[in-house]
Amino acid sequence: FLYWQFEVNRMNKVILVTGANSGIGLALCERLLSVDTEGLQLCLACRNMRRAEAAHSALLTSHPKAQVALLQVDTSSISSVISAAQEVKKRYDRLDYLYLNAGIMPNPRFDVNAFFKGLFSRNVITMFATGEGILTQQDGVTPDGLQEVFMTNLFGHFLFVRELEPMLCRAGRTSQLVWTSSSNAHRSAFSLEDIQHKKGTQPYSSSKYASDLLSLTLNTHYNKQGLYSSVICPGFVMTNLTYNILPSFPAFLWTLFTPIFWLIRMFTNTFTLTPYNGAEVLFWLFKQKPESLDPYAKYHSLTSGLGNNYTQPRKMDIDLETSESLYEKLLQLEREVRKKLKDEQKESPP
Ligand SMILES: NC(=O)c1ccc[n+]([C@@H]2O[C@H](COP(=O)([O-])OP(=O)(O)OC[C@H]3O[C@@H](n4cnc5c(N)ncnc54)[C@H](OP(=O)(O)O)[C@@H]3O)[C@@H](O)[C@H]2O)c1
Repeated sequence: FLYWQFEVNRMNKVILVTGANSGIGLALCERLLSVDTEGLQLCLACRNMRRAEAAHSALLTSHPKAQVALLQVDTSSISSVISAAQEVKKRYDRLDYLYLNAGIMPNPRFDVNAFFKGLFSRNVITMFATGEGILTQQDGVTPDGLQEVFMTNLFGHFLFVRELEPMLCRAGRTSQLVWTSSSNAHRSAFSLEDIQHKKGTQPYSSSKYASDLLSLTLNTHYNKQGLYSSVICPGFVMTNLTYNILPSFPAFLWTLFTPIFWLIRMFTNTFTLTPYNGAEVLFWLFKQKPESLDPYAKYHSLTSGLGNNYTQPRKMDIDLETSESLYEKLLQLEREVRKKLKDEQKESPP
């Protein structure tokens, strides 16, 4: 009977991954299906459906019996997030894992001056490992009037979680949120007075630091209801996002850099490089009891110089007071956007 019960529980697990059509998100899906092809219901929540369909067929080619579904969501759009959440509620009766992985770093600029300065400073390893001080971006504004990076990386996901709350908080069972953060999340880039980072040049770092803070406060508010949240850093991984950092470099030039990256990996285990390695911690978290995780830790994918993957928790530079204040501000913004949406619907009913 116990075996049967275990099988039933295992069969029903629903896992939703945002940004699952490429990079680290897709590598996670591949890794999950490699250990459990038939017992999981995987939902790839993607913006670009052409790429999503390609990812879907690739996964089904290697795992023909897998249960893989597609869901359209643009995390930079309020209406898209809300209708995607409604669709999830219609399709599934449970949601066990929600990987909040979609993310952008638009128009990144590599600050060559800061790079060469850093190269001869004591900060060189940190600079390579976290990109601190050498990456700036040019943010845009979404049609909803919010900063694009904030909306895509953080607030769209926050709304998604809020919409899915009844599914995620179920008596007698636990659910897990996993935020793909970054070691580029720096307190110095974040301000409670400007949570959308309208005024600065590091919206990416700000949004990732905000996800670290938010995860902590979500644990405070939701653990009692069975919902747990953690943040991860995949390390430095070669994906569309990182290829974009030096736009004037053709992709093949990156390949020429590979031996240099391998060399750097001898000194810093954060150079995970491949999406498979980067997804290590996401996969590891899937196997953990959420109650055993430290809400103040960021879990890192690491790869040794010899290419061995492992996970390590590292204390985050966050505090409960700031995270509570951010939570209040996000709830306030949520009230505002919902009111605006209602008013718009009143003005032009569907
Ligand atoms: N690569 C690294 O070194 C690194 C390091 C630290 C953290 N990260 C984080 O890892 C996560 C995954 O990135 P990646 O490196 O795997 O890069 P990637 O291959 O570019 O993947 C990003 C994913 O996010 C999706 N996405 C972007 N904007 C979206 C939107 N508005 N709505 C829905 N989906 C959207 C993309 O879908 P489309 O096909 O529609 O663009 C894509 O599937 C990101 O959160 C990133 O910040 C990456």
